[in-house]
Amino acid sequence: MAVVLKSSNEIEKMRRAGTVVRQVLERVRTAVKPGVTTADLDRVAEGALKEFGARAAFKGYRGYPAHLCTSVNSEVVHGIPSSKRVLKDGDIVSLDFGAIVDGYYGDSAITVAVGGKIDPKTERLLKVTEESLQKAIAVVKPGATLGDIGEAVQSAVEAEGFSVVRDFVGHGIGSAMHEDPQVPNYGTAGRGMKLKAGMVIAIEPMVNAGKPEVRVLKDGWTAVTDDGSMSAHFEHTVAVTDTGATILTA
Ligand code: MF3
Ligand code: CO
Repeated sequence: MAVVLKSSNEIEKMRRAGTVVRQVLERVRTAVKPGVTTADLDRVAEGALKEFGARAAFKGYRGYPAHLCTSVNSEVVHGIPSSKRVLKDGDIVSLDFGAIVDGYYGDSAITVAVGGKIDPKTERLLKVTEESLQKAIAVVKPGATLGDIGEAVQSAVEAEGFSVVRDFVGHGIGSAMHEDPQVPNYGTAGRGMKLKAGMVIAIEPMVNAGKPEVRVLKDGWTAVTDDGSMSAHFEHTVAVTDTGATILTA
């Protein structure tokens, strides 16, 4: 599959989708507190999405059963919201959400602390993962490479003693949620495909406090760290412009 370049008109449509995603995620973030279930969070996302008049990107995607992915503690990505999963003080939860507006996708994720007493190492995990995403976005411009992005994430993460998940990667995005190219969170600067103005990619570092290995639970979706360590995930949909990058999910 080839990389699809987007016109400025298409990028503005994607920014509308991205803005909906941001607003929905902020709603869900506000709803995160001890005692709330991850199914409650899915309902918040569904309600906000309807209010904004957008379509869900995840529900029905390869049979995925919810609007939102909610990945708690050692869950890395693709956790399925459940009325049995009650969030408690000190947990972290990754919230991954996608929307479709006018046929175009937006995709973003954040990881948030539940309640007030998250431990310092976990706090640092969240901060380092979010910063690794910002550092990756900072290298995006025409002529930069996918290896530049991967190295930016990997070096920021490993300098702090954490590890980058290899088994899941970022992706091109547009009129489909997943387009070429794949966007790994590891690599070597100068290697890999060159970025061009009009490319739109979802950059999404998944970072483990312990080892990088993950496995998928019997539900067929939930990826968890093999060693049981905590994991964080941040994601933005980013367009390559003539001079650099613009975050469509800001
Ligand atoms: N943001 C994730 C991705 O880009 C979530 C999609 S998985 C889904 O792959 F099944 F929930 F849609
Ligand atoms: Co994504």
